[in-house]
Amino acid sequence: LSVPDNYAIVFVQGGASLQFAMVPMYFKQEGKVFSYIHTGEWSTKAIKEGKLLGEVKILASSEDHNFNYIPDLKNIKIPENSAYFHITSNETISGIQYQTFPDSGNVPMISDMSSDFMSRPIDVSKFGLIFAGAQKNVGPAGIVPVIIRKDLLDKEKKVPSMMNYAIHVENNSLYNTPNCFGIYMIGLVMKYVKKFGGLKKMEEFNRAKAKLIYDTIDAGSFYKGTAEKNSRSLMNVTFTLPKPDFDKEFNSEAEKLGLIGLKGHRSVGGFRASLYNAQTMENVKKLVEFMKDFETKHK
Ligand SMILES: Cc1ncc(COP(=O)(O)O)c(C=O)c1O
Repeated sequence: LSVPDNYAIVFVQGGASLQFAMVPMYFKQEGKVFSYIHTGEWSTKAIKEGKLLGEVKILASSEDHNFNYIPDLKNIKIPENSAYFHITSNETISGIQYQTFPDSGNVPMISDMSSDFMSRPIDVSKFGLIFAGAQKNVGPAGIVPVIIRKDLLDKEKKVPSMMNYAIHVENNSLYNTPNCFGIYMIGLVMKYVKKFGGLKKMEEFNRAKAKLIYDTIDAGSFYKGTAEKNSRSLMNVTFTLPKPDFDKEFNSEAEKLGLIGLKGHRSVGGFRASLYNAQTMENVKKLVEFMKDFETKHK
């Protein structure tokens, strides 16, 4: 990840969902607001926690199209009195992903990277804090790698110790009994990623897998991609069939081939192929072959 020296890395617990509350609790300041980009189910949950703890400003939203795109943030104006600016780098459910990250100026940019952490190189120096529930790309659920810029650390914040990033950093993730197993597993995965060729190679691999499915979708008019093309996620490919009547059959035929967990979230419908780092090219090819077959039979 090429994390610069002026950043600390800690492991906290409670899943990414606890970060939705820990971030506003820790960064809260008199007279400051919490700024968010609203892109889907996960930003909804983050915003909900922010609202419990202070004033939330939603600077852009893609709710008008059922969250099928990342809003254009080229000319985004982040209020100077923002305690932080929160984005969700990949919305797991609708299958949209930031292709580039905005410049947040003096306001610390916070990203929930739960579903694309370690899937591609990123410029860590653009962020004040990055958190990621480990379970998609790096380890078991519950453990959360947090990367925080050191100038944002303040031990004296009036928050409970477990909610204070500075206390976790000062104690090298050992303020309380750590999730040793989770950290050990993440260590193994990091070694694996290194051996794989690092994040550039991982991105190429993920891009190649996603391309196979997106190309199948785009090749005809049978399948329809849910996300707008310039917001398409490399991690979660979402698509629908021409008739919802086909869904049940698609799902059961896929399951017979061992292609499981394809059913889309109820808020989006259709299907979702999740292509996290561990997903193999062989499996993706099997899915694409099945999709082509199904299309031929039902056209
Ligand atoms: C983008 C995103 N944020 C947050 C979460 C919630 O993570 P956790 O279950 O670790 O609380 C998830 C789902 O796992 C997610 O995909």
